[in-house]
Amino acid sequence: MPEHTNDTAEKALQEALENLKAQGLASDESIKEATEQGDSQSAGQKADAFAEFRKNENERSHIRKIIGVVSGKGGVGKTLVTSMLASEMQRRDFKTGIIDADITGPSIPRAFDVTEKAMTDGTYIFPGESKTGIKIISMNMLLDNASDPVVWRGPVIASTVTQFYTDVAWGLIDYLFVDMPPGTGDVPLTVFQSLPVDGIIVVTSPQELVSMIVEKAVKMAEMMNVPILGIVENMSYFECPDCGKRHAIFGESHIEELAERYGITAISRIPIDPKIAALSDAGKIEAYYGKPIKEVADKLESLK
Ligand SMILES: Nc1ncnc2c1ncn2[C@@H]1O[C@H](COP(=O)(O)OP(=O)(O)O)[C@@H](O)[C@H]1O
Ligand SMILES: [Mg+2]
Ligand SMILES: [Zn+2]
Repeated sequence: MPEHTNDTAEKALQEALENLKAQGLASDESIKEATEQGDSQSAGQKADAFAEFRKNENERSHIRKIIGVVSGKGGVGKTLVTSMLASEMQRRDFKTGIIDADITGPSIPRAFDVTEKAMTDGTYIFPGESKTGIKIISMNMLLDNASDPVVWRGPVIASTVTQFYTDVAWGLIDYLFVDMPPGTGDVPLTVFQSLPVDGIIVVTSPQELVSMIVEKAVKMAEMMNVPILGIVENMSYFECPDCGKRHAIFGESHIEELAERYGITAISRIPIDPKIAALSDAGKIEAYYGKPIKEVADKLESLK
């Protein structure tokens, strides 16, 4: 995998798609349509395809739940929320892992200070491990120079992410979080289609046009036949050191109405907190105690 070129990755993707087609789970057209404009398979067919995907899990892995973390655009705190959720579930004694699928801006290893390169025995790739035992895989751990920009097209990104699922020796994982590429366009959609995601967490900030992002995320979730499990509003308020009140710096939030409209039950709010930025920059995000993320973590814990 470290010698991975775009060509071999493309070939791997081609093979994966051929497999799906051979099993009658997808046709050229359905793949094209699903990627370009939306749903072309019935929910039942999709569920079957996902069951097939589960079988692709290797002998060194048993993964119970895969949770995709999405946002409308970059910079709203998707990586932060993924890191905080993973830290919180690990604290609750669940075995937790993270796939850093935001290959164009992989920052999970930095938030956890996991700087070593991933090892391979020729068959499996072995994930890195954070201080509290969260297993992590990221493109940064496969590249020789972590600062090399990775400019790849959607299908190549998707096939790389697929390998993070099929080729990594994960061991037993209760919750595997996927830090998705930002947006709700082709690239995140293709990544979604390459992993058997069980549910989605939407990350927004008050500056965003939240209603649009939620609507797009709902659409994507419907296409993938998975539920939106929760919404996290990041940079939601500032707890004033002077008066102790929560000031809505970026304006009043509307996510409650939206969540109600779409039947999403778990909402968490994360404050603007310089400590958060400092900890994640220092690779110590696990040291931030997870109160702001409690509702969404509770929701994940309640999944059967
Ligand atoms: N609630 C917050 N308070 C303070 N800083 C934050 C907060 N959320 C995110 N940041 C900082 O903003 C930057 C972008 O966050 P990040 O999680 O990397 O966004 P994304 O993954 O969506 O691009 C990071 O430097 C992060 O530390
Ligand atoms: Mg990020
Ligand atoms: Zn005040």
